[in-house]
Amino acid sequence: MSSQKHLKLGVNIDHVATLRQARYAPMLGSHNAEPSVLAAANEAEANGADSITVHLRLDRRHIQDCDVFELRENIRTALNLEMGNTREILDIALKAKPDFACIVPENRREVTTEGGLNVRNADTSLQRHIKELQDAGIKVSLFIDPEVEQVRAAAKTGAEMIEIHTGAFANAAADGGKSELKKIIEAAEVGHGEGLQINAGHGITISNLPTLLRTPYLAELNIGHHLVSRGVFIGLGQAVREMRTLMDSYPHFAST
Ligand code: PXP
Repeated sequence: MSSQKHLKLGVNIDHVATLRQARYAPMLGSHNAEPSVLAAANEAEANGADSITVHLRLDRRHIQDCDVFELRENIRTALNLEMGNTREILDIALKAKPDFACIVPENRREVTTEGGLNVRNADTSLQRHIKELQDAGIKVSLFIDPEVEQVRAAAKTGAEMIEIHTGAFANAAADGGKSELKKIIEAAEVGHGEGLQINAGHGITISNLPTLLRTPYLAELNIGHHLVSRGVFIGLGQAVREMRTLMDSYPHFAST
């Protein structure tokens, strides 16, 4: 039985780096370079984030290697590194030692992570890389679509966690998203039965969150774009606080 007290909120700050890179990519060392990724992490932490998530992409379009090391040294919650299954990023993860690594599929042309990892048909490198991360003390999550076969395949890899891709649900949520929610619920139930920690993320907003919270066994949500977007108008801290408050109604923890 987990001693976890509430549904955890991982705040993804990739798009704070997106904004900085839009102006300062060629001059990151400039005293003018802003907004600060570390300051955003600290603001999220001060307002209820349980962890900070960043995706170090192969093309380095937003988060840079130096951001990962700066966050590792200076945040006071946990660091969750999203990463493609590549040797290059794995070596950085082994040096930076985030608390968690979430392995995601990565395709250079995509705007954002489009689908889940195909764990069922993954080559042997996935299993090897999971083991290398775990041997370095890093807990591993696999970002997968809400499909029972993928959940069972993820459990076989020895990863401690899955993160259920909620993108399709988020896109359908304006029309109710019922069939997508059903898939997420089933994936969470199967994953829990397999002994996996169940996380979820992608496209979560304050509008679709109440419906998503019908999913049982959730331990953590990773939320980025919406929080940074709302932050433009109401401040990142307030956006995180609002999300935290809504998440506190999650019945799985409220009843225990
Ligand atoms: N979880 C994973 C694995 C992701 O790749 C992303 C997008 O970077 C997120 C969560 C956050 O998604 P969003 O920015 O839509 O909240």
